[in-house]
Amino acid sequence: MIASRLPEGPQVLPLRQKLQWLTNPLKLLETYAQLYGDIFTIPIGLSNVPVVLISNPQGIQEIFNANSKQLDSGKAAGIKPPFLGPQSLIALSGNRHKQQRKLLTPPFHGERMRAYKQLICNITKLVISRWKIGETFSVRSSMQEISFQVILKAIFGLEDGPRYQQLKQLLMTRLEGTESIFRIILLMFPVLQKDWGPLSPWGRLVHNEQQINELIYAEIAERRKKPDSSRTDILSLMIAARDETGEQMSDIELRDELITLLVAGHETTATSLAWAFYWIHYLPQVHEKLIQELDSLNENHDSNALFQLPYLNAVCQETLRFYPVTTSAFQRVVKSPIKIMGYQLEPGTLLSPSIYLTHHREDIYPEPKKFKPERFLERQFSPYEYLPFGGGNRRCIGMAFAQFEMKLVLATVLSNWELKLADSKPVKPARRGLLISPSEGVRMVVSGKRPQNQKVYEGISSVV
Ligand code: HEM
Repeated sequence: MIASRLPEGPQVLPLRQKLQWLTNPLKLLETYAQLYGDIFTIPIGLSNVPVVLISNPQGIQEIFNANSKQLDSGKAAGIKPPFLGPQSLIALSGNRHKQQRKLLTPPFHGERMRAYKQLICNITKLVISRWKIGETFSVRSSMQEISFQVILKAIFGLEDGPRYQQLKQLLMTRLEGTESIFRIILLMFPVLQKDWGPLSPWGRLVHNEQQINELIYAEIAERRKKPDSSRTDILSLMIAARDETGEQMSDIELRDELITLLVAGHETTATSLAWAFYWIHYLPQVHEKLIQELDSLNENHDSNALFQLPYLNAVCQETLRFYPVTTSAFQRVVKSPIKIMGYQLEPGTLLSPSIYLTHHREDIYPEPKKFKPERFLERQFSPYEYLPFGGGNRRCIGMAFAQFEMKLVLATVLSNWELKLADSKPVKPARRGLLISPSEGVRMVVSGKRPQNQKVYEGISSVV
């Protein structure tokens, strides 16, 4: 079928559904997928901008395989994330995006990435060493602490000291409120964005950002003055990187990318880990199988053994399938006429590959509402059926790093502590800023140590 109109869908969302979109969009997405199928148009935001949502692997493939002259993202698609800055990879479009991605990708892969193993294990050990038997805690908060420190040390390359402490505090203050409805409203209405001094809501954000920028620029200046080729942190690698014309990244580009990596990599990884801990402890058979597999590690001396454990891998994959941290990949905008699933789409049309709806298709994932890691042992899914990290020329650059960190943190915690859920009630998903997160953060209780597994534990922190 060839049609020059947009796929069908609701013309406007009633207020109740607009609110539902803000609080728990999953139900709303499912309602419309049932009504209109796997491609439909939905008005999003206060100005009811029509966006075409796609959850059909053929459509997703057509989007991910299009080039940036046909479909683009970043500022071309109206994405101007506050705080990240105009030079952020997420905001860039076209050739600038392509060039910047080339510079940023290498540290997130292979040997360079594996150099962060010990650091991730040490940070995890430090954070969990503060847990006490019998104590109830929020797993999401602990995971946020771990992923935050990993980024400050592995990406920013900050050593403990006054600048580290100051920046940590300022960034935490900045990131903490992102889920509050008040902050969302502040960002949605430009009229409220007035700096009436450091005590006004917008003024506070502006002041906080200025302080963060000063510290980041001071760090960059110091590193430029004393280049050290032995450093492995991502800021140092970015400072040393040159594009094909020999150009280096400017201070503003470095600042914007650092903040982008922090914002894109911190809460996403922490949320996925919180969900993983929830499922592992909600379903005893998953816990048992995983512990058995981890316990088998001590007989294995290969330094990559942990990353090849099939069940651990399947648990991580199923966690990211069930509640992907973002419901959709970034919006793409049509730049030149393109046919998607038989629809002829005109320039200006916005497209949104729906990760959540694709991951819950009954024909690809039988019994989609059941958490079953085994499905990832039984078959392989194409990148258009399984897309927790998006795809095409916008695929998450932290994908390998995030999976690496998830496995290290899970193995370190599970081999060291016995945990249980504080509450037997199922945990529901809720929106937290742009992410879908476990409501109340997954409350858990530390029920004991696992001394009998000391060997395995040591194996994980020294070998992996
Ligand atoms: C479990 C953790 C994570 C998940 C689920 C996740 C998911 C995603 C998704 C869905 C996208 C959009 C891709 C698209 O539109 O096709 C994305 C983009 C991105 N992610 Fe991640 N991410 C995670 C962790 C990380 C980490 C650890 C980093 C870096 C430290 C990172 C950095 C980025 C960047 C820079 C982009 C923009 C890529 C571009 O525009 O070219 N992410 N991520």
